[in-house]
Amino acid sequence: MSDAPTHHFTNERSFAKVPGDAEAGATSPMTGEQRFQAIIDADDKIEPTDWMPDEYRKTLIRQIAQHAHSEVIGMQPEGNWISRAPSLKRKAILMAKVQDEAGHGLYLYSATETLGIGRDELVDLLHAGRHKYSSIFNYPTLNWADIGAIGWLVDGAAITNQVMLTRTSYGPYSRAMVRICKEESFHQRQGYELLLRLCRGSEEQKAMAQDAVNRWWWPSLMMFGPHDAESTHTQQSMAWKIKRVSNDDLRQQFVDMTVPQAEYLGLALPDPDLRWNEARGHYDFGDIDWAEFWNVVKGNGPMNRERMEHKRRAWDEGAWVREAAAAHAAKQQARRVAKKSA
Ligand SMILES: [Fe+2]
Ligand SMILES: [Fe+2]
Repeated sequence: MSDAPTHHFTNERSFAKVPGDAEAGATSPMTGEQRFQAIIDADDKIEPTDWMPDEYRKTLIRQIAQHAHSEVIGMQPEGNWISRAPSLKRKAILMAKVQDEAGHGLYLYSATETLGIGRDELVDLLHAGRHKYSSIFNYPTLNWADIGAIGWLVDGAAITNQVMLTRTSYGPYSRAMVRICKEESFHQRQGYELLLRLCRGSEEQKAMAQDAVNRWWWPSLMMFGPHDAESTHTQQSMAWKIKRVSNDDLRQQFVDMTVPQAEYLGLALPDPDLRWNEARGHYDFGDIDWAEFWNVVKGNGPMNRERMEHKRRAWDEGAWVREAAAAHAAKQQARRVAKKSA
């Protein structure tokens, strides 16, 4: 590529796809900032070695780390029911799902690391209360039907959010999301199927399902965040194509998708204002209790303290595992080096 402009932090992949490279020629290479904008405009991906604005990097670190933390903390409410699942089949499904969430956390920590921050530092920020995770996991799981409601509504809301992230402008994040979304759709279906079985069962089982949906409906709608007008990061994130659809539009998508599913289950959604609006072609729905939303964000939800305590304890108790794994890796590496030089 002798005629390509040289730039320390670019690679051939993006040279090949960014329009305007040919015209730029060897004498007037694009600046890092121009290349960045050209990649964004072309709907191409920014890769870890590409130049990027500091704020873009910071926004991504905050967002992907928050996402990673959420996957990991999200194991707690469901892990709580593994030992009490009503059958071997349900236990196997739930264990597989909770393990998937651990895996999502790991892909996402790896994606965050490509932005130049270490995993230990991210975990420290979470433990110090300086990083957030999704507020949805600060609600308790009170009965078995909660596992169904979480799969159907919480994983359902997560998918609605995450499908757009498969098209996000940062390459490692978008690629992690492709795999995560496939697994999330399994999570959503197992939750729906669990509720369907309860709803076709005894009166008590159906009442349990209704109780769970009553408690999880509103927190699920909160997962899309504040109204667009109040969302501080939305505008810049949309311009950088990190976010591709706004909070309110995603929330509407989720409601439109979920209402017919609730009808099929024969469950009521706890919102007296919920009704089809023929003129808009969407469901109208009531307003979220924003006082509750901010209260949980600020750390005062029903389970905030317990989740963080458990997380810190698990981290401390697992220190010997991390040390053993690192010692083993160092030993293997030393053996390989010795073999090579022999
Ligand atoms: Fe997940
Ligand atoms: Fe999930």
